[in-house]
Amino acid sequence: MKKQEQTPKTKADKPQEVKPWGGRFSQATDPEVEAFTASIPFDFRLLPYDIAGSQAHARMLTRQGILNKAEGRLIQKGLQEILGEWEQGRLTFTLADEDVHMLVEKRLREKIGPAGGKLHTARSRNDQVALDLRLFLRDQVRQLGGELKALQENLLATAKKYGQAVLPGYTHLQRAQPVLLAHHLLAYLEMFCRDQERLAESWRRINILPLGSAALAGTTFPIDRRAVAADLGFSGIAANSMDAVSDRDFVLDCLSAGSILMMHFSRLAEDLILWSSSEFDFIAIDDAFCTGSSIMPQKKNPDVAELVRGKTGRVYGHLVGVLTLMKGLPMTYNRDLQEDKEAVFDALDTVRQSTRLLARMISRITFKTERMLEATTAGYLLATDLADYLTTKGLDFRTAHGVVGEIVARAIAEGKELEALPLAWLRAVHPAFGPDVSRWLDLRASLTRRHSIGGTAPGRVRRALHALEKKICRTAYPF
Ligand code: ARG
Repeated sequence: MKKQEQTPKTKADKPQEVKPWGGRFSQATDPEVEAFTASIPFDFRLLPYDIAGSQAHARMLTRQGILNKAEGRLIQKGLQEILGEWEQGRLTFTLADEDVHMLVEKRLREKIGPAGGKLHTARSRNDQVALDLRLFLRDQVRQLGGELKALQENLLATAKKYGQAVLPGYTHLQRAQPVLLAHHLLAYLEMFCRDQERLAESWRRINILPLGSAALAGTTFPIDRRAVAADLGFSGIAANSMDAVSDRDFVLDCLSAGSILMMHFSRLAEDLILWSSSEFDFIAIDDAFCTGSSIMPQKKNPDVAELVRGKTGRVYGHLVGVLTLMKGLPMTYNRDLQEDKEAVFDALDTVRQSTRLLARMISRITFKTERMLEATTAGYLLATDLADYLTTKGLDFRTAHGVVGEIVARAIAEGKELEALPLAWLRAVHPAFGPDVSRWLDLRASLTRRHSIGGTAPGRVRRALHALEKKICRTAYPF
């Protein structure tokens, strides 16, 4: 009797459904703690990646003789079935399952028995979750790259379509100098090309295998990390097991590339919002991409552009959130790291949705080129040209600037545009003006003269367009 009392409790005696890690526990997890610590409600979407990683791990364990062939086959089959259940929406979970890794292992053991318990040999959830996240982000970034490419193509087509249209270029949101609409649009294309480079760079850094680091220090089993890397298409292997399980730089790379991309989107959105206002009236956005007002019947609001601008803050928030999360984490894995997922999931969902919508919206904008042209003819946009003209007549630029400033002030007082000023009027201000000045006060001539590299001269813009077209065409991910 006494002896029996001293017998350690078996798991079956424990008051809760036993957790896979429950061996050293004698009390059930507090339900609120279970809810607080579970990641299954959000990491469930990682399941296909968890399965792919586990299948590669099991193949390697089998090749290395750590699992026998029959066990290897059973595990592959079981995992494949679980993936099928997930795809068909038949796989369910409770908070007690904790996370996607535990859910898969539980389901595998339900399906194939004790062989399922061998899958976790030479592996920890710490290297497993890092692997899943890398596999997931590799796909996400590749898809985002494709979606951004579609946006670039649509923007390029728009720039081509409105090749000769002119609008005021602005600084300080004040009319400054005339530019080609294509030049303005290609400015965004340049930004998006840099975004593509950042995404490709993130992708390369994601594509490193963390698996095989185990909990933090490596494993005693004779694993073959190179084989797993080749199997899963990774281009390298994380060199330090402690770094590998606690590194989330690749998450931050995605978040910062995504944040910069959203910043560009937000600027484009802001231009579109301004341009669609009655004050500018440069564009009409397709009805399908606008919404109305519940009270003001006349309203047509550019909500998609506004929300893209708004959601930019949300993506920045996730970047700052994960930076803050990482700051001060001691080596190596800490549960804090679980908080990276919702941030990066939401950020990527937001960036990708914004990219797809902007891509479609761009193609459904009507540019009111007459209105744009009209806006370039008021506001002294050729004042710099006039100063440049005087400089060709021997004045130093600063003096020329002063003379033209005076002319502008007088023209404003008389309510006249520069082109309307008679030569005699100009000569009265400065004798350097000659009859050839009219060629400098011509809009098209002004554009053509801005032929410096990167300038808005039509020839330059045409060449820039072709260069960008080639560059966009070459955007591809190494798969
Ligand atoms: N769910 C965890 C995460 O998202 C992974 C599991 C690691 N848990 C642990 N106790 N070591 O980071």
